[in-house]
Amino acid sequence: MASGIFFNCTYIQFIVILTIYYSYQGLAFESINSPPRNTSAENLLKQCYNSQFQPNGTLFGDYMNGQPTRSLYLHRVWWSTKRAVFPLSFFTITDLKRITALQEQCKSLPGGTVAAAIWLPLSLNGVPEGVDAAAAAEAAKLGPGLSAVHVHIVENATALLDEVFAQNEAAANTSCALRLLLLYEIVVQEALAVLMPINIMRNAALIATDSDLVAMLDVDLSANKDLAGLVMRSPQRVTEMVFRAERQHVAWILPAWDVSRSVPSLKRNSVADEALSVSSKEKYRLEEMWKTKKQLFPFALERGYVLGHNATNYDRWFTAQEHYGIEYEEGYEPWFIASRFLTPFFDARFRGYYMNKIVAVRSATRFLNMRVLPDVWIVHRPHEVQVANFGWLEAQKNMKNKQQVMMALDEPMVINGTMTTARDAFFKRNLYFYRIAVSQMNAFNYTPVLDVAVENCRKVLPWWQHRAS
Ligand SMILES: *[C@@H]1O[C@H](CO)[C@@H](O)[C@H](O)[C@H]1NC(C)=O
Ligand SMILES: *[C@@H]1O[C@H](CO)[C@@H](O)[C@H](O)[C@H]1NC(C)=O
Ligand SMILES: *[C@@H]1O[C@H](CO)[C@@H](O)[C@H](O)[C@H]1NC(C)=O
Ligand SMILES: *[C@@H]1O[C@H](CO)[C@@H](O)[C@H](O)[C@H]1NC(C)=O
Ligand SMILES: *[C@@H]1O[C@H](CO)[C@@H](O)[C@H](O)[C@H]1NC(C)=O
Ligand SMILES: *[C@@H]1O[C@H](CO)[C@@H](O)[C@H](O)[C@H]1NC(C)=O
Repeated sequence: MASGIFFNCTYIQFIVILTIYYSYQGLAFESINSPPRNTSAENLLKQCYNSQFQPNGTLFGDYMNGQPTRSLYLHRVWWSTKRAVFPLSFFTITDLKRITALQEQCKSLPGGTVAAAIWLPLSLNGVPEGVDAAAAAEAAKLGPGLSAVHVHIVENATALLDEVFAQNEAAANTSCALRLLLLYEIVVQEALAVLMPINIMRNAALIATDSDLVAMLDVDLSANKDLAGLVMRSPQRVTEMVFRAERQHVAWILPAWDVSRSVPSLKRNSVADEALSVSSKEKYRLEEMWKTKKQLFPFALERGYVLGHNATNYDRWFTAQEHYGIEYEEGYEPWFIASRFLTPFFDARFRGYYMNKIVAVRSATRFLNMRVLPDVWIVHRPHEVQVANFGWLEAQKNMKNKQQVMMALDEPMVINGTMTTARDAFFKRNLYFYRIAVSQMNAFNYTPVLDVAVENCRKVLPWWQHRAS
């Protein structure tokens, strides 16, 4: 026990030293050369999104009532001027803690685009009454709804993303064209600061894409090297993928892999790297890594969630030379590439990591034809090394520490006249939203609840107007 604590301390110190080193390098670089950005696209996005903003803060009751928050402000966008070489974008969401995973994902798609919505929750808890007017005015200048205690957090997040963006631009064609969207959310109850408005964020990232093909990926998933290196560089393949996605409503399924928990933590990322760099001609090596070496598993299988990816049919995939069609099974939760205009928006009622994605996938598979790509896959990157977040953690000093924030979920609250906790209410509520959605789907009258900001952007952004074809 004691040696564990000691180990952790040295490990943390090590990370801190690394971070200071890298931050220094990044900032030094950034101050010399701040890369160009597509400010016209940035402004269009900010205008349509923020015209719907209300600064009074998200209430737990709004979430319970299935009302998507309007207190999410698109503070800043970083839109790369790099030209994409092929028409595929990933869209994803993250908080600042997992920004290194985003950098890895971007590197796995050189020539393509990654749009990421980054969430910064700002609690109204602990905002002192009657703060000095100058500080309040300063905060209001930085962004609507902000209080003086938030200024440092928002500035720090902005500086961190400046650095991430500049580093990525410097990586030229070895990384993706990156689009970052920093959204802060004013939350009234502390518990909401741990329940990300996950689907509102996914929708925000989706409207920042403008390619023919898109895929929603979790931030800690990266694509195999042949997706960007081979498949998307083949004009025939791209034409076929776009054509079938648009005309035949095909969803191109990406088989997904997890690194085994039996692999020691410090080796997990190298196993992920190995699986990502396997050539598609040698995909039997993945079967070896799974069945012989037990380093890799089909996604979620080791955790016992068989149905999540079983329909992909990994055994068939190992020998498949061509894409093949599959049928939906209840519980199936694949990631896929689809036409941007046919990709479903996500139900904005959900918050937190529970039941949020399965609804969108279930509804998509009602009108999309699923086909598995034979030479493309994605691998889940373990979370061990998170170097770039120190600045943000530092900024969080003003807020409660993570343990305390988590505890906010367990604070008693009265809902509908009954004493409960936010955690309990959250689980029950997401399950309830899920059940309603499924029964509506079964009756063929389900439409995801959208937040007004995304609805508005979809109406007005030039790249979201349907092509007259
Ligand atoms: C927030 O402000 C808007 C506009 O002023 C108002 O309509 C709404 O009721 C307010 N919501 C809350 C929760 O106070
Ligand atoms: C900026 O983005 C817009 C919208 O996608 C695009 O039409 C325009 O060509 C881009 N400009 C530059 C300089 O990249
Ligand atoms: C990246 O750019 C370099 C230098 O221009 C070029 O040699 C290389 O082929 C490019 N790589 C890709 C994947 O486009
Ligand atoms: C998994 O998929 C295979 C083939 O697609 C099917 O035969 C099998 O019944 C499925 N297993 C479960 C548990 O659904
Ligand atoms: C964030 O704030 C901390 C503490 O003030 C500071 O040391 C760090 O350099 C900041 N990070 C960035 C990227 O500005
Ligand atoms: C509150 O109670 C009413 C009546 O029982 C019910 O219809 C409603 O769904 C409940 N709301 C929540 C948030 O549980």
